[in-house]
Amino acid sequence: MGNWLNNALFGWYPYVALTVFLLGSLLRFDHSQYTWRAGSSQLLRRKQLRWGSNLFHLGILVIFGGHLVGLLTPVAVFDAFGIGHGFKQGMAMLVGGIAGVACWIGIALLAHRRLLDPRIRATSSFSDTAILLVLWAQLTLGLLTIPVSAQHMDGHEMVKFMTWAQGIVTLQPGVAAEIADVSIIFKLHLLLGMTLFVLFPFTRLVHVWSAPVWYLGRTGYQVVRTRRPVTRARPQAAARPAVAGPGFRPVPEAPAPQLAGGDD
Ligand code: HEM
Repeated sequence: MGNWLNNALFGWYPYVALTVFLLGSLLRFDHSQYTWRAGSSQLLRRKQLRWGSNLFHLGILVIFGGHLVGLLTPVAVFDAFGIGHGFKQGMAMLVGGIAGVACWIGIALLAHRRLLDPRIRATSSFSDTAILLVLWAQLTLGLLTIPVSAQHMDGHEMVKFMTWAQGIVTLQPGVAAEIADVSIIFKLHLLLGMTLFVLFPFTRLVHVWSAPVWYLGRTGYQVVRTRRPVTRARPQAAARPAVAGPGFRPVPEAPAPQLAGGDD
């Protein structure tokens, strides 16, 4: 790959991708909030969804965390903790590989369901199906990097990717040169990965921004739906919040003080 092309694809394109990702997400949120959703098809068909969705989400979350920590933690931090480059690469291949296979099976189930169930197919947009297939291709490329990585278990190639990724996020010029000579499989994986950032704001992937992670730290309260009829007009009961549901009858407010001359 020529120098100029390598620079364009791995020096400039990352910034194009990150800009579209951030600005595009912001604009979509601002302009068309009613389209901001995961587009669940659970009501149409539960079959395969539980296994497919769980395997997919579990796998992709592990991969996401692994990539984030693995690529963006400074090499000096691993060195300070005495974690060898070879060991780190082995862990990435093992943990990422297991998560990748789980995710791959999950997407296969989801794609089968989306493409072959006529009701889901009819209610899927082009982007719903396309993003699933792009993720599948990206995952396949990721898994294909494992045998390539296995040919150099000392971790030196992995350090190149870390230097590149950290150089990009810290705005270092010329970092594309770090990965100029890596295998084409890696390059295709990186390119499609960045393209996923470009596609993100235009697909159902935007729901990732709305992951309810703050639930983990919220102070507890529980909304309880009851089928028991609510008994009328005990003054303390009126103060308790109730949630509408089958058998629900609203609790009347405590009677207002009668005005003189009132007629009811
Ligand atoms: C811009 C985004 C991405 C970048 C820069 C990236 C980069 C990399 C790199 C450098 C490796 C090799 C790690 C090593 O051997 O040391 C790798 C492996 C892998 N990637 Fe990605 N990747 C991206 C997105 C994705 C996505 C979205 C998926 C899943 C859909 C994915 C799935 C995998 C898998 C399964 C592996 C093999 C296991 C592993 O080493 O963790 N990657 N990726």
